[in-house]
Amino acid sequence: MSTLKLLTDKGGNSVYANCVDGHYFPPFTLDVEYATHLENIQKMHIRDDDVTVVGYAKSGTHWVWEVAGMLLAGSTNYIRDIKESQFLEVKEVAALDALTSPRLLNTHMGFRFLPSEIVTKRTKVIYLLRNPKDVAVSLYHHVTGMNPGEKFVYNGTWDDFLDAYLQGNVWFGSWFDSVLAWEKTVTALTELPVLTVHYEAMKADPLSNVQRLSEFLGVQRDSEFCQEVVEACSFKKLKQAKDNVKGNNLRNAWKPGTEGFYRKGEVGDWKNWFTVAQNERFNALYAEKMKNSKLTILFK
Ligand code: A3P
Repeated sequence: MSTLKLLTDKGGNSVYANCVDGHYFPPFTLDVEYATHLENIQKMHIRDDDVTVVGYAKSGTHWVWEVAGMLLAGSTNYIRDIKESQFLEVKEVAALDALTSPRLLNTHMGFRFLPSEIVTKRTKVIYLLRNPKDVAVSLYHHVTGMNPGEKFVYNGTWDDFLDAYLQGNVWFGSWFDSVLAWEKTVTALTELPVLTVHYEAMKADPLSNVQRLSEFLGVQRDSEFCQEVVEACSFKKLKQAKDNVKGNNLRNAWKPGTEGFYRKGEVGDWKNWFTVAQNERFNALYAEKMKNSKLTILFK
């Protein structure tokens, strides 16, 4: 494991990453070495009723995690703790072992780092996909909106950030590599119960996507309840719940005046950020990288 400078802005400020086998993670500091933490996560005990929400960062994890939590609980009360309480990147195995069932684990890690028992026990996985252009914009705001820390200051431009994103020099690496690795895995492991949820589809028709999730989770909530979940998990309500209901809401992680995890919650914000040239560059790279992929991405 090494800690390396991932991004440096023109003022000389840098964002660091924990680098494990060539994969980049945010510079989380845990009681154990980060590589050891990842090994522990891979070996952790998975329960038959565990559900894992997986997706590249900024694909709507907080949203779908809360929806799934309500469906499993059969209640529209917000989960009292934050998503990060079950986030594999930062929670050590002892803390995860202490959680009551059903657990709703979540991660942005590539498949090869996931607990191996997810496959052997065939536990349910919800996989999130979002237009990578909107992901880029969302991640840029994340990186520039966080409170500076010892291994983390970035005041770079959108243009410089987009370069880094396209090269995979960001936390969690290349979006392309991440989704392609996932596609390869799922194609090989057809017996793994996976439900893919598209951010754009959730926005366009939240009720039917909540119903899909209900069916996948095997809880069969009726449509009235699913509609209540849709409303409780609207962008506005979740943003309020984060501040008013949750215990540790990680507010200190963000610069004053920034929006934190609940920034805008829209489809197509990329159009406000990409220049024509950047968009052409993105499209060319997309065509090249995804030429053999059958993944559906809902570009809007
Ligand atoms: P934006 O930065 O585009 O607003 P993640 O949870 O994986 O980190 O993803 C964060 C993105 O999901 C942010 O996107 C955030 O605003 C958006 N999001 C969170 N809750 C949402 C909701 N209820 N509806 C729509 N978007 C939501």
